[in-house]
Amino acid sequence: MGHRAKVLTAVLLGALAGCQRATDPVARGREYFHAFGCVRCHAIGAAGAHYGPDLSYIGFRKTAAWLDLWLGNPHAWKGHTVMPNLHLPESVRKDLVAFLAEQKGEAFARDGKPWEVPALAKDPVKRGETIFLHAGCTGCHGIAGVGGNPNNNVVGGEIPSLRGVRDRYNAEELVEKIRLGSIPGAANPRQPAPMVRMPEWGKVLLPAEMKALASYLVTLDPVQGKGKKGSAEDF
Ligand code: HEC
Ligand code: HEC
Repeated sequence: MGHRAKVLTAVLLGALAGCQRATDPVARGREYFHAFGCVRCHAIGAAGAHYGPDLSYIGFRKTAAWLDLWLGNPHAWKGHTVMPNLHLPESVRKDLVAFLAEQKGEAFARDGKPWEVPALAKDPVKRGETIFLHAGCTGCHGIAGVGGNPNNNVVGGEIPSLRGVRDRYNAEELVEKIRLGSIPGAANPRQPAPMVRMPEWGKVLLPAEMKALASYLVTLDPVQGKGKKGSAEDF
């Protein structure tokens, strides 16, 4: 092949690849999720690690606006988070947001739900704990529900801890709370509304799964003393 033909082929192939990739931000986002090492800390379905929250339901529980803010700089939202600021170029960030926004549990439909294992069938508390981890309740309520995650414009500035939640709700009320979710009221009505809400889990979880979650939540003892934080080891 002559030089001009080579150049032309390269240009055409480049344009073709560019077109295919340009039209599918989700596919690009999936590639970046691997290329930028997100999988070293996060799982989607059966693949990845659990150093950070499981992201199989991330597109269900968090909005694209929040994801964009978080990936822009995690420390701007949560000062002491161990998730590093990866200084992502804007185009990469947008594609990652498009990919993450698509993650609404389909990976579990494909790979199997981690709580659908024989060992957990007769142990609702342990099953609830496993759902708590993999549905990503930890992403908002912290490991074992210890709290410590911020929300904007809410009284106290934080998403509630779930330690001792049994003192506020019985098991049936917990199931209803999980099923319907709830939108926190704005502390100051003139400021932007809180960005993080309690999702309506009834849209993606089965009644038996929400019941198992409630069985687990009622076992969470109140934390005595302030400043008890989860470690990042068991998301
Ligand atoms: C060194 C480990 C590490 C790496 C690498 C990492 N993360 Fe994280 N990530 C975490 C941890 C830990 C948290 C939980 C932060 C907290 O609560 O303080 C988190 C939180 C998140 C959340 C919020 C989860 C939720 O449930 O709200 C998203 C989204 C996220 N990471 C996406 C990514 C993406 C995309 C990448 C790659 C560009 C990435 N992370 C790379 C450790 C990491
Ligand atoms: C995207 C963030 C987010 C995720 C994920 C999340 N929650 Fe929540 N949750 C909240 C917020 C915010 C509130 C407070 C709502 C309000 O003030 O109306 C809340 C409140 C609650 C409450 C009531 C607490 C109280 O003291 O009133 C329970 C129980 C609860 N969540 C359980 C769960 C369970 C179980 C899961 C996982 C299936 C879960 N949450 C996942 C954000 C979240």
